[in-house]
Amino acid sequence: MRRFEPGGPLRGELRPPPDKSISHRAAIIGALCDGPTRISGYLDSADTRATLSAVAACGARVSEGPADPDGGFSVEVEGVGLRGAGPASIDVGNAGTLLRILPGWLAGQGEGEWTLDGDESIRRRPVDRVAEPLTRMGAEVSCRDQRLPPLVVRGAALSGIEYQPPVASAQVKSCVLLAGLLADGETTVRELHPTRDHTERMLAAAGAEIRRDGAAVTVAPAERLESGDYTVPGDFSSAAFLLAAALLVPGSELALREVGINRHRIGLLAILARMGVEMGGAHEGERPLTIRDIREPGPEPMATLVVRDSALRGAEVTAEDVPAAIDELPLVALLGCFAEGETVVSGAAELRSKESDRIAGVVDGLTGLGAEIEARPDGFAVRGAGGLRGGRLDARGDHRLAMLGAVAGIASEQGVEVEGFDAVSVSYPEFERDLRSLAT
Ligand code: S3P
Repeated sequence: MRRFEPGGPLRGELRPPPDKSISHRAAIIGALCDGPTRISGYLDSADTRATLSAVAACGARVSEGPADPDGGFSVEVEGVGLRGAGPASIDVGNAGTLLRILPGWLAGQGEGEWTLDGDESIRRRPVDRVAEPLTRMGAEVSCRDQRLPPLVVRGAALSGIEYQPPVASAQVKSCVLLAGLLADGETTVRELHPTRDHTERMLAAAGAEIRRDGAAVTVAPAERLESGDYTVPGDFSSAAFLLAAALLVPGSELALREVGINRHRIGLLAILARMGVEMGGAHEGERPLTIRDIREPGPEPMATLVVRDSALRGAEVTAEDVPAAIDELPLVALLGCFAEGETVVSGAAELRSKESDRIAGVVDGLTGLGAEIEARPDGFAVRGAGGLRGGRLDARGDHRLAMLGAVAGIASEQGVEVEGFDAVSVSYPEFERDLRSLAT
């Protein structure tokens, strides 16, 4: 249990922790490469450490280097090559991205068997979404009740397929693309709505033949992948909690440095624009949200986001907004409590399959703090009341609900007690330190 009191303005500057999605992929793709991949600013969190242990269990050599002050450390992954994974029993912990991406690689190995299992929450998360396309490629995959972990994968010969996942999911897309590297013939994933393309960018940098054509991404079989050096940008999804806090607490001004701004990740900014947050580039004068110092040192673009408090109005969020803002939708609910008018999120049933049922967790959690919010099967509707009373919120073992409770607390009238705050270790272990360091 941790208590977050209503606070004064948030001021200062920091680099949010390294990107979780990109860290997972750098370790996994590093393991597929021939030779060493040096990763700077690998996220130090429970989820991403599970991925390093997983690739080590498959035979990759992982050497940890020094820590940096921004929640990362340098690490070298000496890959085993595309076809070199050794059999293993893998504990994914709470990491859904590891659980769903790694099997794509394992399924195409010449021989071997792998079991992927994890904590109580991971055991409730569907894996049929990857088992189904892998089986169509010829993989030997089985899971509990045909749907849930543990997931058992046996190496088999794979054929390329054309696949349209029934849900928009970067994890499913990434899994099928990795399997495609080992298949005979090309593999195409056709997306309902575009999702984060970190895997595609990293595979292209490693020399894979990969191309996008509208909603379709196609990968060709590969003999080998080239290793290289990689710097992980700050995580937009972690930065978003600080950004929301600054928008809500009057007098705030924060600079968030080197944040990844991949366009498939920053859908929250488009939603904020509709909520009335004026934004622009550095040359466009002072606005509540300024994007400056944009650069692209590797496969991913990054920038500094400067954010000040802003008035908000309600907005509508629909299915096509969802993939690029999926992990930030709990924050949209919180911001909606402070906005004028109604905020409605629909087309987001996927939220029910995250680390917790995030529709239930957000609606019950914010209701307990005084919000007027109602659950829908595929989202929620919030009536803005210009603020939030405060109270107690249960994180339900979910890191993003824990951070939501903390931000709600400092923006509330009476403060918030967050039950199960320790869940933040999954993606942002130093969240409380960072948040408190910015409080004045
Ligand atoms: C992720 C993709 C998203 C996201 C998750 C990380 C990834 O999940 O919610 O936090 O790294 O590919 P889905 O692929 O299930 O949409």
